[in-house]
Amino acid sequence: MKILGTILALLAFTFSTSTFATDAKALPNCVQCHGTNLKGNPALMAPNLAILPQWYIRAQIASYQQGWRSNNVEQTFAKDMEAVAKSLSAEDINVALAFINTVAKTIPRQTIQGDVAKGKVLYLQCAACHGDNAQGNQNLAAPPLAGQTDWYLAKQLHAYKNANRGFSAEDKSGQLMLNSIAMLPTAADVDNVVAYIQSIHP
Ligand code: HEC
Ligand code: HEC
Repeated sequence: MKILGTILALLAFTFSTSTFATDAKALPNCVQCHGTNLKGNPALMAPNLAILPQWYIRAQIASYQQGWRSNNVEQTFAKDMEAVAKSLSAEDINVALAFINTVAKTIPRQTIQGDVAKGKVLYLQCAACHGDNAQGNQNLAAPPLAGQTDWYLAKQLHAYKNANRGFSAEDKSGQLMLNSIAMLPTAADVDNVVAYIQSIHP
């Protein structure tokens, strides 16, 4: 964990010179995988956290703690986040959320090619829950999708398809999305709808 040590040392320096009211403990932990400005890190398949509302982050940390986000031990990346979530106390989560709130949002680059026009038609079925501009809807537990890294959106859609997410009957929000995944029968449908979402900037 030499890299972590270096990050911690750097952060200790940052904190000694900054005015953040947060404690340094939760901060290096999230940045280490989610990247600078929490903008997402494709090498570790860790999504953009800065665009997510606090209610959704809280709900998903609880979901990882319940083991609802990976149904398969080979799903390494989800298991990584599950281990992190299980290590967080309620206070750690509050500190992390306070920090995330201070981070500037980064608009991700396009990495997935798809037919945006076809994706727009597919997205009409998603808008009822995720909103016309993919801005999310807390009343339906549906997160914003606009501004999320496209590779992460595609990975999650495949996770629902493969019942690696939304599989637990107790996971009410996951089940809502699982019921909707039939709207995207092919891998091309996934790429097309993700390409359309990527084209909407928050
Ligand atoms: C060891 C690496 C690692 C660390 C450290 C880490 N994460 Fe993650 N996180 C991930 C990965 C990988 C994913 C995506 C996993 C998946 O596919 O379900 C993820 C997903 C998430 C999600 C789900 C987002 C969504 O849109 O579905 C949330 C919320 C989250 N992390 C919050 C945090 C917070 C808060 C911290 C710091 C306290 C943190 N993570 C630290 C690797 C990490
Ligand atoms: C019935 C409401 C509903 C519809 C329709 C719906 N979703 Fe969702 N979606 C949700 C909910 C609720 C969640 C959060 C699920 C969870 O907790 O796992 C979600 C989660 C997601 C996620 C995971 C995002 C993240 O950051 O983890 C993606 C990607 C997604 N939806 C895309 C779509 C697409 C594309 C469509 C249209 C084909 C769609 N959704 C239709 C309700 C819906």
